[in-house]
Amino acid sequence: MKIATIIFVFLYLVFNTNASPVAKTPTANTKKVCLWDHWVIYIFNHIKDPIHVRVKSEDDDLGDHTLALNQNENFSFCENFLLTTMFYADFKWKGKTALFVLFDKNVWPHCGKGSLKKSRVCLWIVRDDGFYVAGEWAPFPDGWTKMYDWS
Ligand SMILES: *[C@@H]1O[C@H](CO)[C@@H](O)[C@H](O)[C@H]1NC(C)=O
Repeated sequence: MKIATIIFVFLYLVFNTNASPVAKTPTANTKKVCLWDHWVIYIFNHIKDPIHVRVKSEDDDLGDHTLALNQNENFSFCENFLLTTMFYADFKWKGKTALFVLFDKNVWPHCGKGSLKKSRVCLWIVRDDGFYVAGEWAPFPDGWTKMYDWS
């Protein structure tokens, strides 16, 4: 095979692998093999009313979900070849809304480090005073960084 063919096949496989649909419910301790990191994102509702969440990326629309108090939405994916994977989310709570980037390069530093066996985790909590991120569980507010407000 020509070198160009080999490179083409390699790139084709890499891109195709990463275009696979997002797994919506990560099973604990199941880390997928990725070219770069495997990520798991959790969004927890800490508001006593139900909220609406809709997560999207360029390729995926995870749909409109209602989260009651302490319920979460979670999904996992492989970081893409160019490290440009981006998810954003649209939130609704009574008359308030928020729309922001849930995952991209700027969010990485707030997330967990992961390891050979563990996926990298980003935890979001939704509170009545805004949106907070952390890399591991800790009682609020220790280790949580406020990222956005409701509007
Ligand atoms: C992930 O979300 C599903 C609902 O899509 C839920 O049933 C499950 O409990 C969540 N996982 C964890 C670890 O909370």
